[in-house]
Amino acid sequence: MRFQQNVDLGPLTTFRTRGAVAQQFYWIESERDAREFATAVVPSVSEWLLLGGGSNVLPTRTIEVAACMQLPGRRVVEEGPDAVTVRLGAGERWHACVQWAVSQGWAGIEAMALIPGTVGAAPIQNIGAYGQQLSDVCQWVEGIEIPSGELRTLPADECRFGYRDSIFKHELASTFIITAVAIRLVKRQEATVAYPELARALDGIARPTISDVFECVVRLRKRKLPPPDVGSAGSFFKNPIVPVQVATSLAERYPSMPQFPFNGAIKLSAGWLIEQCGFKGVRRGDVGVYDRHALVLVNWGAAQGTDVVRLAAEIKDAVRARFGIELEEEVIIV
Ligand code: EPU
Repeated sequence: MRFQQNVDLGPLTTFRTRGAVAQQFYWIESERDAREFATAVVPSVSEWLLLGGGSNVLPTRTIEVAACMQLPGRRVVEEGPDAVTVRLGAGERWHACVQWAVSQGWAGIEAMALIPGTVGAAPIQNIGAYGQQLSDVCQWVEGIEIPSGELRTLPADECRFGYRDSIFKHELASTFIITAVAIRLVKRQEATVAYPELARALDGIARPTISDVFECVVRLRKRKLPPPDVGSAGSFFKNPIVPVQVATSLAERYPSMPQFPFNGAIKLSAGWLIEQCGFKGVRRGDVGVYDRHALVLVNWGAAQGTDVVRLAAEIKDAVRARFGIELEEEVIIV
């Protein structure tokens, strides 16, 4: 397994903040590397961090051991007249897999275009966008157990997928290294569009195809989210989910507050709450809130991880004071 010492973690994350170093750094390029990391490296250290594309993590300090998952592979493992199951290596770029699926005429992930990061990170936070989420298509997740090194396959119904949540953030957070994800896609050109903003953007097209959806999502995301040369990790907070009674009393006080029914409760828009508190476009040194989307914190240059954490705390305090709502980070802070 490739190994380096004292690696700056900033350039390996999409936030590209300063101030975090891994004393030992490993590159996982094969299942054998993953097994070696799980059995020989992890058990002897007190803490470790596994990066994929580094798009949902904010390292803020020195850490003993980190690794980057780079295991490749895209393979059809089952094919029927109407659907295919594909097995994707954890190190594959998610967006490249979406592009590939769309080019093959396989529907199911086209609305998740341009989500940064890797396949291996996708089940951890159950990525989603524009009405689709990984758990809708996931069949199973493969990984190596720590410390035994055994290969284990978890069927999707054992992954405890929730909104930006899964078993990999909890029970299996420090005992499982995801090596592959299998998803089932449907052979169909015609798209189903569930998300209102996407439906509006596709308004001129009578029967949108999955390519139309893919291209439209790419356009929408490029318009709202920072370009790749600006450090960020996409949505910094989750959208809060509150009981219906809480949402009703908030709607009385704030009639323009966006609210979306969600599994018998109400999902609020964190971006709206943050914007109402006056943070959209603010800048504290090199850290800021993106001026086109208040849910996105950005590193305008030389921000430290701790600077981002400080602004995030300021935002949480303001939202709590004004709305009585506790924002929870989507990004994993180390
Ligand atoms: N809004 C504002 N001000 C803002 C931003 C948003 O008022 O600055 C309000 C608007 O009312 C808008 C609503 O928030 O209608 C929802 O905004 P948007 O459609 O942009 O979606 P979001 O809830 O902010 C979520 C995901 C995104 C995903 C989009 C589209 C979370 C935490 N984020 O954002 O995912 O792309 O929906 O499906 O669920 C990510 O997770 O990193 C991510 C980018």
